[in-house]
Amino acid sequence: MVEQSRILVVDDEAVIRELMGDILTEEGYPVESAANGRAALDLLKQFDDIVLLFTDIVMPEMDGIQLIREARSLKPSLIPIVMTGFATLETARAAVKEGAYDYVLKPFSLSEIKLAVSNALERYRLAHENARLREVTELFTFSEQVVRFRDEHALLDFVLKAALERVGAKRGSIMLTSRDGRALEVAASVGLPEEAAHVSVTIGNGISGLVAQRGAPLLVEDIGKTPELAERSRHLEHDSFISVPLERKAPVDGWRYPSPTGNGPRVLAVLNVSNKRDGRQFNEGDLKTLNVLANHASIAIENVRLINDIEQSHLSTLTSMALLIEAKDPYTHGHSQRVHDLSILAAQRMGLPKPEIEVLNLGAGLHDIGKIGVNDGILNKSEPLSDTEWDMIRLHPQIGYDVLEPVHFLTKGHLDLVRYHHERVDGNGYPDGLKGDQVPEIVRILTVADAFDAMSSSRAYRRGMPCDRIIEELRRCSGTQFDPRIVRLFIEMIQAGEIEITG
Ligand SMILES: [Fe+2]
Repeated sequence: MVEQSRILVVDDEAVIRELMGDILTEEGYPVESAANGRAALDLLKQFDDIVLLFTDIVMPEMDGIQLIREARSLKPSLIPIVMTGFATLETARAAVKEGAYDYVLKPFSLSEIKLAVSNALERYRLAHENARLREVTELFTFSEQVVRFRDEHALLDFVLKAALERVGAKRGSIMLTSRDGRALEVAASVGLPEEAAHVSVTIGNGISGLVAQRGAPLLVEDIGKTPELAERSRHLEHDSFISVPLERKAPVDGWRYPSPTGNGPRVLAVLNVSNKRDGRQFNEGDLKTLNVLANHASIAIENVRLINDIEQSHLSTLTSMALLIEAKDPYTHGHSQRVHDLSILAAQRMGLPKPEIEVLNLGAGLHDIGKIGVNDGILNKSEPLSDTEWDMIRLHPQIGYDVLEPVHFLTKGHLDLVRYHHERVDGNGYPDGLKGDQVPEIVRILTVADAFDAMSSSRAYRRGMPCDRIIEELRRCSGTQFDPRIVRLFIEMIQAGEIEITG
């Protein structure tokens, strides 16, 4: 028996209601009874735990078939069983087609009723377990998917679509709390009119603002019955909607959340859904589903922010390391930044795709980071270097690679910039002697930018070269050290005055 399985008996004959009541109570079930359909529907609304409905067919006001239809729309999991005499047997069979689970013939015996009840409850239990299993599986898939996101906006889009799908809604939005914690801004939306898709509300205003302020979800079955909310919902077409807060789980530095009560819930965002596909109202089950999704989504949002923060500070540490190397030598001061800027400028001129430019943006400034492992005396020496000293210098791409390789958010593209920036297109570079296209294009760009900056800036032992000398030198090394196409581009940019020579 399902725990607390209440049974509802509906018959206009009092004797049947009493008889059924006695049988079922004797069996240990809580029983409610009604003399007509209206009263039965009221009882269904009143008692959440009614799982089984025994109903007569021929009754005044509302017949059994209509009652079954309305009762199932109120509670889809309800199992109806029809009680009928021989005269209405055909109608009973029709009722089964309409959604009744079974029928019992009057006059019925005790054992017939007991069997019908135990069969029906077994079916209820199985259906309940299946639904629960499906729900758990879907939730598991959802929670697995959301933690994979690294981009907050993509994550919010995914969460919103999943939420709409799960509750069968056509319209919805996620409003994100602003950094200062004072307002909510639409960060993802589906089906919203243009003027509503970019709104922002202050905390406490509108429906979302109210939910954020209270930190409690809101299920509105019919807004017509709550005029104080109708005032707030200018953009709602439909009468029924759900608004759920996404609450933070742990403090994240730099973010403030609305918390009017001081110790009250902190809200990251508000999830809104409206316009149920089947035209019905949202119910408690939908609210429960969205609460669970919101819970998982909050964790995922905080993860994304936390990971971004960690990556950002990790990157700052690496950049500081690169700057530290430059700081020891006044002549190379600003070199990494200039090589970074030049590489990006050239890559943009060549029309490289955005992801490649992003790799340069993050990795170009780190290309010489391996110099941290080379003796300062050698790095800053103004006299010519011995062969052994050159060998030491030539280790820096490999050292840089070894330093950055364990950094999980750096990709092969970033590592290539560090490891291969002294490779040459003729294969005579180091450390791997790669040739031609084996050297990735962004590295070939960086190599020219690196050489350009080395030539144009002053060193301890010489002044920066003038324009024409640099052009001459680039041409001389075109096809051996450098990719000719990139050399041509740099010469064009120098001649057009797009690249400034600092001297
Ligand atoms: Fe280098």
